[in-house]
Amino acid sequence: MSPTIDVQLTDVWQEFPAYPSRLTALREIDLTIAPGSFVSIVGGSGCGKSTLLQLVAGLQMPARGEVRIAGKRPSSLRKAKQIGWMSQQAALLPWRTVLENVQLPRQVNRRTNGTDGIGAQDMLKLVNLQEFAAAYPHTLSGGMQQRVALARTLAVGASLWLMDEPFASLDELTRESLTNELLALWQQFHPTVLWVTHNLAEAVRLSDRIIVLSPRPGRIVGDVHVSLARRRDDTCEAFQVVLRQVRTSLQGAGS
Ligand SMILES: Nc1ncnc2c1ncn2[C@@H]1O[C@H](COP(=O)(O)OP(=O)(O)OP(=O)(O)O)[C@@H](O)[C@H]1O
Ligand SMILES: [Mg+2]
Repeated sequence: MSPTIDVQLTDVWQEFPAYPSRLTALREIDLTIAPGSFVSIVGGSGCGKSTLLQLVAGLQMPARGEVRIAGKRPSSLRKAKQIGWMSQQAALLPWRTVLENVQLPRQVNRRTNGTDGIGAQDMLKLVNLQEFAAAYPHTLSGGMQQRVALARTLAVGASLWLMDEPFASLDELTRESLTNELLALWQQFHPTVLWVTHNLAEAVRLSDRIIVLSPRPGRIVGDVHVSLARRRDDTCEAFQVVLRQVRTSLQGAGS
């Protein structure tokens, strides 16, 4: 994997020309994310979390302000395959096997900028799916499909992972075990992670830092640094203190 990279947003605003009037989705976002850190974005539905991720991915241009990744425009990082993306839909190709889906990014890129020579089979092992290499996506459970998507993200070899509630549609147990796997992979490869979630306890369990957005137009109303040692125990008082801090920021913002 390439060296980890920082993300910088400077006075970023996003607007959409919605009927009957212009809609401001994000305003005055100033944010510097340290290389290799795990940062969660939390906030109520419609506050602009996905919009923020799309701006960082270079899939949208901001109405105002600037987004820089390692000092460069997101589009150039995207072209260099430095950005991995995961969302609620695993978006696997149904006619390709699990292994072929994981191999796809490298075939498309036709180069191996990623993951220090780790092969697709090894990536499947990292997400505990080696026995399903020859299976087709429709024969897998939702959690298994997201594991394949995780392996595919690894295969890209990206140093920035943008993750928009990728495990939101899964049951709580599967979700917890997948986030534990994700954490282990992050500790192994140290990408910079931007993680969107509605689940505040999950954000505290995973993150170095939690950014709280206000209701639309989303602006930053909380920035909570979490210094608890991992693995974090959600029953301990220190964990609950951080959780209350995040909740208070959200409630203060009217979410
Ligand atoms: N392409 C678009 N065109 C017009 N309006 C948009 C567009 N994308 C997002 N919006 C609006 O911007 C606001 C923020 O949307 P966004 O999807 O970023 O919210 P979110 O925080 O991700 O919500 P959720 O938690 O429900 O996923 C919403 O009011 C939405 O209607
Ligand atoms: Mg969203």
